[in-house]
Amino acid sequence: MNPFRYSEPLPPSELIDRDEETETLVEIAVSGNNSRIVAPRRYGKTSLLTRLAEELAKEGWNTVHVDFFGVLTLADVAARVERAYASQLEGGVAAWFAGFRRRLRPSLRIGAGEGAGADLAIALDPAAEPPLLERLAIPRRMFERTGTRTLVVFDEFQDVLTASDRADAVIRSEIQHHGDAASYVFAGSQLGMMRSLFADRRRALYGQARALDLSPLDPVDVASHIDARFRATNREIGDALDPLLDLARGHPQRTMLLAHLLWERTAPGGRAGDEEWPAAADRAMAEVQDELRAIWNGLSTGQRRVLTAVAENRDGIYAAGRRHGGSRGGSAKAAVDALLDSGEIQPDPAARTGYRVVDPLLGEWVAAGRTAE
Ligand SMILES: Nc1ncnc2c1ncn2[C@@H]1O[C@H](COP(=O)(O)OP(=O)(O)O)[C@@H](O)[C@H]1O
Ligand SMILES: [Mg+2]
Repeated sequence: MNPFRYSEPLPPSELIDRDEETETLVEIAVSGNNSRIVAPRRYGKTSLLTRLAEELAKEGWNTVHVDFFGVLTLADVAARVERAYASQLEGGVAAWFAGFRRRLRPSLRIGAGEGAGADLAIALDPAAEPPLLERLAIPRRMFERTGTRTLVVFDEFQDVLTASDRADAVIRSEIQHHGDAASYVFAGSQLGMMRSLFADRRRALYGQARALDLSPLDPVDVASHIDARFRATNREIGDALDPLLDLARGHPQRTMLLAHLLWERTAPGGRAGDEEWPAAADRAMAEVQDELRAIWNGLSTGQRRVLTAVAENRDGIYAAGRRHGGSRGGSAKAAVDALLDSGEIQPDPAARTGYRVVDPLLGEWVAAGRTAE
């Protein structure tokens, strides 16, 4: 069995690094406060939160993980919350909830589907709020009834704004009363939207959750983890370790993807080297090709110019932008901001442009001329 997984959140025992982050999140929750994790997609947010839940469950907490990805209406938001409690609670509180659930008023009104057509009407309809408020109150009720505390994870949280621009206000109006009953972790990949939800004074959740950054994985931890897993499965990573660390640059999912493909190409009893590594790297580029093209297609011309300048990292961003056909500094600035907000680039003081491409495979592909070969 290949010991490197790259396509879904990891079980807690397989995480590289992240001990400090877990500890910090436990402390914040135990002290009755909320936190937020804002990091680009596939940076290990959900994996870390699974580990946090496991730690707190050991301390007797209830834990629920609500994924808001793709919600369109407040009714969707309410349904996601209810479903999470229904499927994830354990022990006595699960039985309590099975009964309590029967008392909740329906979250979907008659005639209102989940489709995009119903979206606008419901988003503007205050009648969608009471059912959601009832579901947001579940941990408070549970605490009153059983005295147990709850960790509530709201993952891909920025998507609630699609349901309603007021969603954060509705949520705050209930959870501000939770005190010891529940601690919340808000996680999201859309950096710009998460920032406006929590760092803009005019928004309801401003100042309500402590920010935790996820940095790239530490190369020392990555090296020893990969080396140990190769050895445990009767292989050696040998000379391929260096180029792997170079290419992946600590990006969690890309690291695991490359390790997976390299392991696959290394014979039992064998050692990865000059043949296996290039083959694995080529395969990785082929595997992500469609995804990279889709990202590129979703960018404006100005953003493509800036992304290319950042990927090539030859000179400052404005000079490079002009070299790639751009004109004014102002539009380059707007493109930089958009790429930062979507999590395609991040600040990097060591780079000539001052930024780096978050996904190293996207960076390679862009710098190499954006062709299939
Ligand atoms: N701490 C970690 N150690 C090793 N791999 C990780 C780690 N965090 C994430 N990954 C890799 O990244 C992938 C995506 O992780 P996930 O938690 O789903 O990220 P996110 O929720 O930020 O999108 C996982 O399948 C795994 O391969
Ligand atoms: Mg996730």
